[in-house]
Amino acid sequence: MIFETHAHYDDEAFDGDREELLSAMQESGIEYIVNVGASLKSTAASVELARRYPFVYAAAGVHPGETQELNEERFAWLKEQCLLEKVAAVGEIGLDYHWDEPARDIQKLCFERQLDLAREVKKPVIIHSRDAARDTFDIMAAKNADEIGGVIHCYSYSTEMALKYVEMGFYIGIGGVVTFKNAKKLKDVVEALPIEHILLETDSPYLSPEPNRGKRNSSLNLPYVAQRIAEIKGISYDEVVAITSRNAKRMYRID
Ligand code: NI
Repeated sequence: MIFETHAHYDDEAFDGDREELLSAMQESGIEYIVNVGASLKSTAASVELARRYPFVYAAAGVHPGETQELNEERFAWLKEQCLLEKVAAVGEIGLDYHWDEPARDIQKLCFERQLDLAREVKKPVIIHSRDAARDTFDIMAAKNADEIGGVIHCYSYSTEMALKYVEMGFYIGIGGVVTFKNAKKLKDVVEALPIEHILLETDSPYLSPEPNRGKRNSSLNLPYVAQRIAEIKGISYDEVVAITSRNAKRMYRID
């Protein structure tokens, strides 16, 4: 069965049918879901979803674009969440120079502190990195992220960089973008990556794959992503599902 490694079901896009949708996941072939926090509020919501649904796990972290909300007191609260049993990872954390807010110094400091936090609580990290390839890699190398482990989510950089992350022991999150007709760069990345380092993810409600591009995304679209990876790598759909699911369980230490 499919392991959805990155979704945001706490998003208001699911307010109308969250319960129905999540209740039907397992019978639709989705074995596990990690609901990823992107702020303190969404971390709390992710923990709540993980409490409610046995097959849902949470990640606790503050997205680079939200890091202005962190202070010592809130950081202490975040650490408490990270220690909960059903919190499988620290994330999503990283750098975002596309929106470029708040100031890069704040983003970097909060990234470093959350990497330290992951090391302390002994959980993997979920990395969000946009238009910040160099700084992300440099900070991770300086923090010995190979000893922490985790995933580069919604991967958007070069093949060369992807292979450097693999060398670091990291996984690469592949989602709907790989199905887009203009996704030549990501196709090359998938071709070059060992399948043992690929994870399936949606980033729901965003980045819906073809043929549902532009609509609200959900984990039910993951078969389109797995099918496209199977085509690129010349292996069967079932192998993609089995191997990526095993990868996810190993990384999140679930099962
Ligand atoms: Ni996300």
